[in-house]
Amino acid sequence: MWTTAQVQEESAKPLNPRQAVVPRPGRHRRPMASPKTQDKASKRKRVLLTILVVVVFLGILATAAYFIKKLIDSKYFFCSQSFKFIPLDKTCDGTDDCAGGQDEITCMSSFSVNTTYPVRLMSSKQVLQVYSPGSGWRSVCSEDWTEQHTKTACNQLGYADKPQSTNVPVNTLMSSLKTGPFTAVRPATRTTPIHQATIDRTACRSGSVISLSCSDCGSVGNQDRIVGGTDAAIEDWPWQVSLQQGGQHTCGGSLVSPRWVVTAAHCFTGGKKELTRWKVVSGRTFMGTLGGSSVDRIIVNGEYDPAQNDHDIALMRLSSPITVGVARKPVCLPPKAFGLAAGASMAVTGWGYLEENGKVSPSLQKASIPLIDHSVCASPTVYGSAVTQRMICAGFMKGGIDACQGDSGGPLVHFFSSRWHLFGVVSWGVGCARERRPGVYCSVEEMLNWIHAVMEKNS
Ligand code: ARG
Repeated sequence: MWTTAQVQEESAKPLNPRQAVVPRPGRHRRPMASPKTQDKASKRKRVLLTILVVVVFLGILATAAYFIKKLIDSKYFFCSQSFKFIPLDKTCDGTDDCAGGQDEITCMSSFSVNTTYPVRLMSSKQVLQVYSPGSGWRSVCSEDWTEQHTKTACNQLGYADKPQSTNVPVNTLMSSLKTGPFTAVRPATRTTPIHQATIDRTACRSGSVISLSCSDCGSVGNQDRIVGGTDAAIEDWPWQVSLQQGGQHTCGGSLVSPRWVVTAAHCFTGGKKELTRWKVVSGRTFMGTLGGSSVDRIIVNGEYDPAQNDHDIALMRLSSPITVGVARKPVCLPPKAFGLAAGASMAVTGWGYLEENGKVSPSLQKASIPLIDHSVCASPTVYGSAVTQRMICAGFMKGGIDACQGDSGGPLVHFFSSRWHLFGVVSWGVGCARERRPGVYCSVEEMLNWIHAVMEKNS
């Protein structure tokens, strides 16, 4: 207001008739010059003002557009071919709602395995075992083993990056493995699948069995950056990712290879089955929405039971592998029968709620919690029969520290043999951090058969 009034007054000055009729420039140069500079300044002011108004207006418009887009994105799917919006829960529901069925093309799938995946790593020594319906599981002796066999076996487990093998003396194995049964590769069977390339042995002639390490996983730089705190740095938990739907953090997840993310099946219920809406954000301590990877497969465990949260596990395949670095690294999968004992020290990480009914955390959090004995967790005063064999519990009976909403799908890890291993996937709990209501996790050890089968089938 003030500026406009001033502008009007100033612009009126040259029109002053008294000044206009006096033709004596010499005497009036000064008084004439002053209004002129004032005129210029006011013009500049006016231009600046206009620019400011336009910028502010555009800013408001852009923010409004952003929030409107976010709101629409959270409720609707856009059929780009027919230029139409459909409600999210109409995507991937089995009926075409967009022209050309665009809403049904890229959807999550579910997968069950009813056969035993014939290759596994056993115990903390990661002893290679192969399976056949006739002979069951047998440990593989080291005789006639070649580097090519290492590659083949690792490929069968879904890994191609760092195949390595070592020999482990039979007499150092745990008692249940010491006495066999054993098997060994037949010479000249380099690329045949390992479980078809072996011949049964009563004992290992070499006196040792094959132990495999197939991936450069689970190792981080300096672990003790934070002492006793809860803030975490992504460089210490570089497998942790944020799964985002329409730019919204929805679940956590863990990289188990440069291309595969393990998460929870319950993250994909309702209108969350459409692939193009998901982004996997990795390498960030402070959760953002920028630079996420797109996803070309979501495979939910076919046995997943939403009523009981049983078999609550899913795998996501990234459209292109991440580049491994200090802030992005896969975690190791655990071997079978590791024998994790109650009280074992576990770590859970995520951007989930900082308290029950709270809000997601802007920065990554971590908590150290002990593993709870299965029978204690499944006792009537805790969760009773709601806890199945596919679940493990971790936390404190007195409450206080726990995962919470938004941590789902994220990692529960344990450190051994200088590496972090993924033992659990954040699944459920009654409230958060309540007394006698610890966090329940999908047991990765119980899902290894499914994980290897999916990764190998989709490699
Ligand atoms: N289901 C939750 C989610 O979707 C995670 C629950 C974990 N709760 C717990 N108390 N540990 O994020």
